[in-house]
Amino acid sequence: MRWTERQLAMLREMGVPPFWPTAPVAAAPQDAPQDAPRPQTSAQPPRTPPRTPPRTPPRTPPAALPATPPAPAQTAAAAAEAILGPRPTGVDAMDWPTLRDTVAACQACGLCQSRKQAVFGTGHVQARWMLVGEAPGEQEDRQGEPFVGRAGQLLDRMLAAVGLTRSEAPPEQQVYIANVLKCRPPANRNPLPQEVAQCEPFLLRQMALVQPDLILAMGRFAVQSLLKTSEPIGKLRGRVHEVQGIPVVVTYHPAYLLRNPADKALVWDDLCRARELQVSRAAARSGTHSGPM
Ligand code: URA
Repeated sequence: MRWTERQLAMLREMGVPPFWPTAPVAAAPQDAPQDAPRPQTSAQPPRTPPRTPPRTPPRTPPAALPATPPAPAQTAAAAAEAILGPRPTGVDAMDWPTLRDTVAACQACGLCQSRKQAVFGTGHVQARWMLVGEAPGEQEDRQGEPFVGRAGQLLDRMLAAVGLTRSEAPPEQQVYIANVLKCRPPANRNPLPQEVAQCEPFLLRQMALVQPDLILAMGRFAVQSLLKTSEPIGKLRGRVHEVQGIPVVVTYHPAYLLRNPADKALVWDDLCRARELQVSRAAARSGTHSGPM
């Protein structure tokens, strides 16, 4: 593949070195490491057991058994609800203000106890590109906006390279950015499956309200939870997927790129794929498309 001067300028903007591969790119890492640095603190068992054994709660006499015990499925569902709080309902009919207020007040999982605030999402509500990341980090939790840390700065440069921005602009240029999780996992640990499940209706509703031409899913958690797969990004890149009728382009997370800058070339390919897709969707919408779809 040959690059025009304009493309090379974009690459320079993204910080892609001039010697990166131009031929069909080498196979992507099959299982890219974790997107953001994730100190495994609370999620890991302590190496040495605590000196004093944990206190056992005082015994209480067992309650009388109900005449007919509930079916096992009901018991499991009730137990999950007791731990997690009720799964948000009615989300798929919410308008923007109701959705925003519901997310801000959500207590469906334990993350509400450690967050400073929920991070709803930002951007044009009619954006043509919607970007989906993993979860707020420390700075996002503090500022209430997604991708404001170092990864966010790289994301802004990536967007600029394809003529997009998160700042105020018409919907063809301004993106909408959201995360799979709206609340920061403590110490940036990995999201838990039940947290992802509880938060999912919010992201799906954001997608349905924005109705973008495409979703750019960034990083393993966003990709795997959107596409409901455990396949690594390296195997999912290079083709267009679909969720709720919206095309999904898969790429690496900007935090991963900060640690693996050589893979910016792969992300550049993904951005180009997304841009081609969006241009052809826009042309089809305005009836100016002449080539095959
Ligand atoms: N990483 C994400 O996935 N989302 C953010 O908002 C910040 C960092």
